[in-house]
Amino acid sequence: MEEDVEKGFTIWFTGLSGSGKTTVSRLVEKKLKERGLKVEVLDGDVVRTNLSKGLGFSKEDRDTNIKRIGFVCHLLSRNGVVAIGAAISPYREIRDYNRNLIGDFVEVYAKCPLEVLKKRDIKGLYSKALTGEIKQFTGISDPYEEPLNPEVVLETDRETPEESAAKVIDYLEKHRYIERVEEGVYSEEEKKKIDKRLEALGYL
Ligand code: ADX
Repeated sequence: MEEDVEKGFTIWFTGLSGSGKTTVSRLVEKKLKERGLKVEVLDGDVVRTNLSKGLGFSKEDRDTNIKRIGFVCHLLSRNGVVAIGAAISPYREIRDYNRNLIGDFVEVYAKCPLEVLKKRDIKGLYSKALTGEIKQFTGISDPYEEPLNPEVVLETDRETPEESAAKVIDYLEKHRYIERVEEGVYSEEEKKKIDKRLEALGYL
């Protein structure tokens, strides 16, 4: 039924630090906004500067952080917003807690081999974790529990961010979270560009 498409739901990105959660979630956000949807991203790094300020990286603090993000996603989702959570969320049990709380929950695993992340080390955190300068670092000296049944798996070492984002959008369309947009149809942004060009050429 048309009425129950485009309702609120939560897209939950999980994965190691540097696996592409933020990058892909921002692309998905952009694509959904172009379709006129209300979207809010709750990114671990950002949330830790406000809502979860003062929390560290013990299991207890991580669980609190993830439950807080899950709670806000729950509030947003039930009010018609597409909530996007993007935090390592290393513990399966807490991710499942959020899944049960929220209901319409699409778990996206940003999968990337640890070896690749250590080599890339964009934030320089893996080298610090390896020397022990940073303690309890996920994947090095702290656990990461892979999702057993995620709705979407991204292989961010082999896909471009665009390809990964397209996988998420494709899942959402296939499962009627959002309406399918015909292939070859332009986004709002593209339409505006085309209109500008046509205008400049005197066709509009
Ligand atoms: S979570 O475990 O609670 O989900 P969250 O995603 O909010 O973590 O924050 C992870 C970010 O905090 C990492 O991307 C990294 O920038 C930073 N960070 C600092 N210390 C650690 C640590 N010990 N383990 C993991 N990430 C850390």
